[in-house]
Amino acid sequence: MKTKQEQNRVVIFDTTLRDGEQCPGASMGLSEKLEVARQLERLNVDIIEAGFPIASPGDFEAVRAIATQIKKPRICGLARCLAPDIERCAEAVAPAGKRGRIHVFLATSAIHRQFKLKKAKSEIIKLAVAGVKHAKKFVDDVQFSPEDASRTEPDFLAEVVTAVIEAGATTVNIPDTVGYAVPNEFGHLIAELFERVPALSKGVTIHVHCHNDLGLAVANSLTAVQNGARGIECTINGLGERAGNCSLEEVVMAMRTRADAFGITTGINTREIVRASRMVSKLTGMVVQRNKAIVGANAFAHESGIHQHGMLSHRSTYEIMQPEDIGLTGSELVLGKHSGRHGLAARLKQLGYTVKPAELEKIYARFIELADKKKNVYDDDIIALMHAEDLAGPQAFTLDYLHVSTGTVLPTATVRLKKGGEIFGPASACGDGPVDAMFKAIDLITKVSGKLLDYSLQAVTKGEDAIGEVSVSVRFGESLVVAKGASTDIVEASAKAYLNSLNRYLFEKGQKKIKAQPRGDQP
Ligand code: KIV
Ligand code: ZN
Repeated sequence: MKTKQEQNRVVIFDTTLRDGEQCPGASMGLSEKLEVARQLERLNVDIIEAGFPIASPGDFEAVRAIATQIKKPRICGLARCLAPDIERCAEAVAPAGKRGRIHVFLATSAIHRQFKLKKAKSEIIKLAVAGVKHAKKFVDDVQFSPEDASRTEPDFLAEVVTAVIEAGATTVNIPDTVGYAVPNEFGHLIAELFERVPALSKGVTIHVHCHNDLGLAVANSLTAVQNGARGIECTINGLGERAGNCSLEEVVMAMRTRADAFGITTGINTREIVRASRMVSKLTGMVVQRNKAIVGANAFAHESGIHQHGMLSHRSTYEIMQPEDIGLTGSELVLGKHSGRHGLAARLKQLGYTVKPAELEKIYARFIELADKKKNVYDDDIIALMHAEDLAGPQAFTLDYLHVSTGTVLPTATVRLKKGGEIFGPASACGDGPVDAMFKAIDLITKVSGKLLDYSLQAVTKGEDAIGEVSVSVRFGESLVVAKGASTDIVEASAKAYLNSLNRYLFEKGQKKIKAQPRGDQP
């Protein structure tokens, strides 16, 4: 029998690498996924959903590598209720041994049954049971999700849940797939399930998986917990399909800060939250809005005189959480141009990066280049340096030369690129402004034309010599790619961001050529 403490412990199931990565433009490569998985381990999440192995060879490799290298959390892979999906998933999570989980899902709502699956209720139950039983042949730990559960008839949902538990599911996840639920209704659905499915009180865990289409994902997850759910599926920065998933940092800090209201604990090491948030933002190119709860740049900034006066009198006047609780240390100055490789390596380690010796050389060269331009190099500069360029690829285009003329003349840019030791260009082009001219010159060299959909510039650190970080959203044919570039010069930062988006597009195009299965019926 579980102690009261165990009963009040909520499992944190992180799906940044699966549902989060499904967010348009947020895809990550293998080394980036591993970097995030290591940070999730430091954050002490209970379960990492590492991907959808049947979706592509890249997804499979990522889940397998994470299952091999990550030693503490459970490693989960997603599968439809189809034998090939389940077998591929089993193969991918196998290196995690007893910590491996297979997550099978099937839609249950009338809308999905009629329009997507074209199946009767009885067929849905049959397929769900067969899926769970098949997964059970490979692992003990099987999770089932009735997709679109919140729009499923409650009596049918209870029937499905009863059947999958009898078939061997050890966790049942209740998704609010389209973010349609509202808190009291969703809480009631969970309470009702406990009443209708007695087996739920006997060792089966109920998770919830809420999407944020109405901005209610965190509220719905918390209400579900108050009604008996003991697992929350969430993502760093709330990344995910459409408006995203329940945000890990918000839901965890709500339960921690209002322990009096919830009486619930998690195993999360909250001091790793900021690092996780920044890492995911940099790696995916998805900017965190300044006023986002917990991790936004303004979350702990007190601008108005009244607030500042209150804060100086006593922090608790306007601060309900301590910045240190989420890992905001306020430690600013880190390195300068006289810092050696060891100093940089040590700081990178403290910031949570695992860097191979060959990579360190490249990063160090960039660090010195930056420290020559900038007196003080801050943590955020180093993080920007780490993610602003593709460190991995010899097949990536990099900037070799850039010259822009602007002012009263027609803006013109001349660019030369480098790839695998070979020089491409130079090419010159005119444009509406220096950045536009430079993008056009790059297109002339690469013969790939991107359509810029979104462009934003942000100063990473304070001061006149701050690094400027440019985020671009570029459409190449059918693909939308989000990428960043950083430099103390904004035209150069723009060139780097555009080249990063192009490199990512070319890399993904290369991967698609070897895709075994279409992503098809993705959740
Ligand atoms: O949103 C959803 O329904 C999902 C399931 C696969 C859990 O992501
Ligand atoms: Zn989802």
